[in-house]
Amino acid sequence: MFETLQSQPADKILALMAQYREDPRENKIDLGVGVYKDATGLTPVMRAIKAAEHKLWEEQDSKSYVGLVGDPAFGDATVKLVLDDSVPRETVAAAATPGGTGAIRQAFELIQMARPDTRVFLSNPTWPNHPSILKYLGMEIVEYRYFDDETRGVDFDGLIADLKTAKKGDVVLLHGCCHNPTGANLNAAQWQDVIAVLLETGATPMVDIAYQGFGDGLEADAAATRAVVSSVPECIIAASCSKNFGIYRERTGMLMVMSTDTSAKGLNQQTLAFLNRQNFSFPPDHGARLVTMILNDDVMRADWMSELEEIRTNMLGLRKSLAAELQRLSGSDRFGFLAEHRGMFSRLGTTPEMVEKLRVDAGIYMVGDSRMNIAGLNAQTVPILAKAIIDAGI
Ligand code: LMR
Repeated sequence: MFETLQSQPADKILALMAQYREDPRENKIDLGVGVYKDATGLTPVMRAIKAAEHKLWEEQDSKSYVGLVGDPAFGDATVKLVLDDSVPRETVAAAATPGGTGAIRQAFELIQMARPDTRVFLSNPTWPNHPSILKYLGMEIVEYRYFDDETRGVDFDGLIADLKTAKKGDVVLLHGCCHNPTGANLNAAQWQDVIAVLLETGATPMVDIAYQGFGDGLEADAAATRAVVSSVPECIIAASCSKNFGIYRERTGMLMVMSTDTSAKGLNQQTLAFLNRQNFSFPPDHGARLVTMILNDDVMRADWMSELEEIRTNMLGLRKSLAAELQRLSGSDRFGFLAEHRGMFSRLGTTPEMVEKLRVDAGIYMVGDSRMNIAGLNAQTVPILAKAIIDAGI
């Protein structure tokens, strides 16, 4: 039967990871997949995670099933972390999922169950797995303008004009913070304008928040999501703990569905449990348990927050030094946007040919759309990258 299978398009980010691994050059630089790395190139296990794992090893006396939507304590802790008190807890249905991608997948399936003909608005560009999953599910995609190739900031007029074409019954997918792949983000006033358009059109927002704490800080990065969720009647939120807790391989995510109609919560919650059961039954528990332990313990939480802040400021420092070095070498401010972008990524804004040239000539790996993982840099490689960019004529 398998002779009917057709080869599937390779995920560009994962294909680049493999290509990097196979490159024998010692001075190669990996700015590909979105994984945090410290100055030595290591993706460390965070201190609080180690402490929680130690405690868990001592205290855990069973690995039996927990529940279809995970431990309710994980739901409470994550809803609080992302939404705080922006909406009453009783308006939010929540289900643990295998990573943020699991939350996105479950969210799309939920949307399809509710309204099979839903159109999902995606920013152009967006994380490639958004359109990939939607296409796989046979759902309709509408792109909205997002990135301004000239300024390397947000094309806000284009974004608003395109979002105004949405209708009730459509879903608008927004990146809560640290836009992936561009690094260009809306400011608070622009978010208010987006909310006004959502209210005007009646479209339902879905917020993907995968990098809370990597941009302007834990609270600041959640501000837009909180503003959206507290302004609209219904909202979907897909949250990831992979990056801010550094537990990528544990697959720790959370899908939240907010409805101001509190009578809907029971049905929403039941549907999330049903969807989990159909797709994988019980969500993974290990990462979720560690996160819950950390968030509910003052000492571990404080340590986690301070390490996350170190990670954030380290990336910010790298951005600033790259922008400064490029300013020095080019004698112009045209790379100033790198210091303005936030999160793990920045879109350099060059052609796939130039990206390939950087890879071939200088062993610098970035995604073909010129997305760079800023965390892949360190004090030694910042000047190397800056020189390569200038040498390539970018
Ligand atoms: C990325 O965008 O690099 C990360 O979210 C990793 C992934 O799964 O693509």
